[in-house]
Amino acid sequence: MTTASERPFGLDVLRLPMPGQSLVEPDVIEVADPGSAAEPTLSAPVARVAADGSDRAFHRWMIGHHVTFGVWRMLADVLAGSGGTGSLSEADTARAAWWYDCYSALLLYAGSCTPEVYARSIRPRMAVKHPAFSGLWARDYEWVAHLLGRLNPPRDGVLKRALKRNRLVHMTVAQMLVPEGASLFKGHGGRAGNGVTDAERALFDEFFLVSRGAVTQSDFTAAMLSRLVAIRDDLVANPIDLRAEVLDMLPTGLPDMIDKLIVVVGETSTGVVGPRTHLDVDEVGIPLRRRTSLVREPMQAATP
Ligand code: HEM
Repeated sequence: MTTASERPFGLDVLRLPMPGQSLVEPDVIEVADPGSAAEPTLSAPVARVAADGSDRAFHRWMIGHHVTFGVWRMLADVLAGSGGTGSLSEADTARAAWWYDCYSALLLYAGSCTPEVYARSIRPRMAVKHPAFSGLWARDYEWVAHLLGRLNPPRDGVLKRALKRNRLVHMTVAQMLVPEGASLFKGHGGRAGNGVTDAERALFDEFFLVSRGAVTQSDFTAAMLSRLVAIRDDLVANPIDLRAEVLDMLPTGLPDMIDKLIVVVGETSTGVVGPRTHLDVDEVGIPLRRRTSLVREPMQAATP
C-alpha cells in the first residue's frame, strides 16, 4: 500500500479561501497571465482518474472530496444570502436544495468503491494521518452547518427534503463502505460535542491536499471544472454500479448531476454566479432548465 502522504497521480493541490472569505478580484493576487482571469482554462490532465481499481477508488475519494468542498462553498454563498434574517427567498431555498443534492451525488461518487477496497486503500491512509480522522473536521462544512443553523426552513420544504436525502445518502455510503459500523472517530472514542480544533481542521485540509489563501473566481472555477470534467470522463469510462434504490436517492442520475454541475459552475467564470442564476425548479427543487437571462451580480460575501 502507498503511504498516507502520497499524492495521487495527476491530482493537484486545491487552493481555497477560508470559509466565509470571498473569492477575490484578479488584481488582488498576482496572476501569471491577466487574460486567464476572465477565461478559466481547463488544465486537462490535472485530475485524470487512475485506471487501476484501488488507485481509482482513492482518486475518486480525493477528487470527489475536492468538488464537494467547492459545492459546500457555493452552497454557503446561497445560505449566507439570508443575511441572518432566518429565511431565504423561495428561489434561493431551491438553489440551496440543489447544491445539497449535488453534495449527495458527490458522496456517492467519492464513496463508490467496495468495502474491501475502502478498507485497503482509503481508510488506512486517513488513519495514518490521524487514528480518529473525521468529516467533522471539514471546515467548509462547519461553515455550511453554521449558516444552516441560522435558518429555519419549513419542515417539509425543498431544503429540508434535500437535507434528509443527503443524510440518507451519507448513511448509506457509510453503511456500504464500513458495514461493521464505527467511524474512525467513534472507534477512537471521539464525541461530536467535544468541539473541533484548528489542528484537526488543518490535518483534514492537509490530507485532502487543500491549501488556504486568496483565490480568484476564475481560478476557483477552473479548479472545479477540471475536476468535474475528470469525473464526467471517469463516469463514461467506468460507470458506477450502484443499487437502483441507492441511485434513486438522487433527483437525477449521477452523470446527469455532474453534467448540470459543469454547466452551472462554468457560468461562474465571468461573474455570472452559478448558484444565483435563475433556475426553474420543479416541485422538489430540481432545476429543469436555465433561463437565458442570467443574473450578473457580485458573489455574496459571507460574514464569518
Ligand atoms: C464519501 C465521502 C464522505 C464525505 C464527503 C463525508 C463528509 C462528512 C462530514 C462533512 C461530516 C461531518 C458533518 C456530518 O455529520 O454530516 C461527516 C461525519 C460523519 N461521517 Fe462522513 N463523509 C463521507 C464518507 C463517510 C464514510 C465512508 C463513513 C463511514 C464510516 C462516514 C461516516 C461518518 C460518521 C459516522 C460521521 C459522524 C462523525 C464521525 O463519527 O466521524 N462518512 N462526514
